[in-house]
This record gives sequence, structure tokens and C-alpha cells, in this order.
Amino acid sequence: MQKICGSVLEVMKNTPVVELSRLTKGLKGSIFAKMEFLSPGLSKKDRVALNVITEAEKNGTLKPGQTVVELTSGNMGTGLAIACAVKGYPFVAVMSRGNSEERARMMSALGAEVVLVEQVAGSERGKVSGDDLKLVEIAAKKIVKERNAFRADQFNHQGNFNTHYLYTAQELIAQTDGKIDAFCDFAGTGGSFAGTARALKEYNPEIKCYLLEPEDCAVLSGRKLINSSHQIQGGGYSMTELKFINRKDIDGFLQVSDDEAIQTARDLAGKEGLFCGFSSGANVAGALQLLRGEMEGKNIAVILCDSGLKYLSTALWQNA
Ligand SMILES: Cc1ncc(COP(=O)(O)O)c(C=O)c1O
Repeated sequence: MQKICGSVLEVMKNTPVVELSRLTKGLKGSIFAKMEFLSPGLSKKDRVALNVITEAEKNGTLKPGQTVVELTSGNMGTGLAIACAVKGYPFVAVMSRGNSEERARMMSALGAEVVLVEQVAGSERGKVSGDDLKLVEIAAKKIVKERNAFRADQFNHQGNFNTHYLYTAQELIAQTDGKIDAFCDFAGTGGSFAGTARALKEYNPEIKCYLLEPEDCAVLSGRKLINSSHQIQGGGYSMTELKFINRKDIDGFLQVSDDEAIQTARDLAGKEGLFCGFSSGANVAGALQLLRGEMEGKNIAVILCDSGLKYLSTALWQNA
């Protein structure tokens, strides 16, 4: 058993992997799900936030006491809020008002200053589009300039990719004894897909990696944008390129609808006892598509990105 930790930052790693044998009943093959929602900030972004801060401290781009700023859908911001609280940096989270309120409250509770940015005219709460995100980016840039702050910059900071390449993927390989045939992941910044896929392929080039997108804005796969508004919070921003993603590591694309992500998240809770958010539902829905199709009989690895607690106010758990 782990001895007393010096701080909560020491437990932002080594999340368990669980086999989803109730959800795969009647299908050939397995889904191995990494329980990132068990991290202290209840998401896979904790370890990214900590790694970005640690790398910036080491290379001198973050100075003692300097303000940290980040554009966030809530999870990176929560990880940063925790890391900054423990390490003593002021932190400003800049987030679209379209993201769930739970996330803003949690970041405030952790000592962050939360700046909420209004969505573009006509946008719906709970559906954050790429255009909404552009407004958040403008606001974040302004605050960085005004406060001479360090920008954690999850869409560009190499620490995002490195975290999944060095840690998430290596843990997955060790926990499954390397018995992974495929990996599928819903992309926001693309950091977790890119870092994990690269490391898995270096371990075994036969592992197939699938990038997952909302069905109406599957633009990375080259499909036409039908509607940029969807409910799978944390990604699917209709960007045609993501800095970290090397197309050579993509073996295929999957599309998941809002309803499929929601139903699968509800099944994860009701059948597996795993209380997670929309994107975890999307990742597992993608893995189920693979087991019903080209990956029948194989072992699929996925990430359970964040906790269902972050969505109590959303459609995910209404009438669930
Ligand atoms: C809940 C959730 N799912 C998925 C993602 C996408 O992860 P990535 O940015 O590594 O592509 C995020 C990113 O913030 C997220 O918060």
C-alpha cells in the first residue's frame, strides 16, 4: 500500500484498468477501460496539468509566484487549480459558459479565479462549438497579456502529449500485459489520442488506433461539417488539424452520436457501476462499434475521461 503522500499531486497517476465484461456480454472480445475519473480532480487532465506545470518550472518558462492562465472546458482547469493551489501559483481558468456549471464551481472551490465567456449568439448551453472556443481563446490571450501570465496552452504545450506518451500509455501496457489490439479515443486537443497512440504503436506496431469524433462534426476524418453543436463536452471542436496528431498513427475514424454517448454513459453507470461523463460514454460506444465490426474478438483499450459528477445538471443524468 502507498505510504503517506506529501501532497495530493502524488496520486495523479496509476489509475486502475477495469474490464467491461457486463457491457460486452454476448460480444466476442474485451474492453479495458482506464479509470482516469478516479484522479483527485476527477479527470484524465490532472496528470496533464501537473506535467505541464512541472515541465514549465524545470525549463524556466514558469517563474515562482507567476499567474497561470488556461482556456479549459473545465477538466484541465481543475487539474491546474489543484496543482497551482498546492504549488502556490495564482490560477485563472477561462471557460465557455456553455460548459457545465459543476466544473466552474469546482475550480472556484479549489482557489481558481473563473472567467466565464459568453457563447456566440444562438449557441445552446451544454453544447460548446469551435466558434464558442474561439471567443474563449481571445479572452484567455487578453488575460495572459494583462497579467504577464504563464499560459498552460493545452492545445500546443508538448507536456500534454508527453503525459500520455510517457505515463497513460505505459500504465495501460503494463496493466494489460500488453494485450491490446486497438485503442479508440475522442479528441479535444488530441493530446491523449496522440500520446497514447504513439506509445502503443512503438510498443507494438500492430495495435490499431481509432480517432473518435461527434457524428455531425467528424471533420478530422474529412467528412463535411453538418452541425458543430453537440453534447460531448471536452472535445469535438470541428478543427481540421490538431497539433499533436500524426496522421500516420490513425488507423481509422469512428463517429458517435450524442444519444449513443449518453446511452453508453448510462449503461456504464447502471451495468458496470462506473459513473462517468459524456466522452467516456463516447469512447466506450466507439469500442463497442469496433467489437461489433472490424475488431470482433479483439481487446480494445479506452480511457474513462471524467466523472459523472461533473454533469449532474446536464441532460446526461436527467431522466436517466
Ligand atoms: C471530458 C473530456 N473528454 C475528452 C477530452 C479530450 O481530451 P484531449 O484534449 O486529450 O483530446 C477532454 C479534454 O479536456 C475532456 O475534458
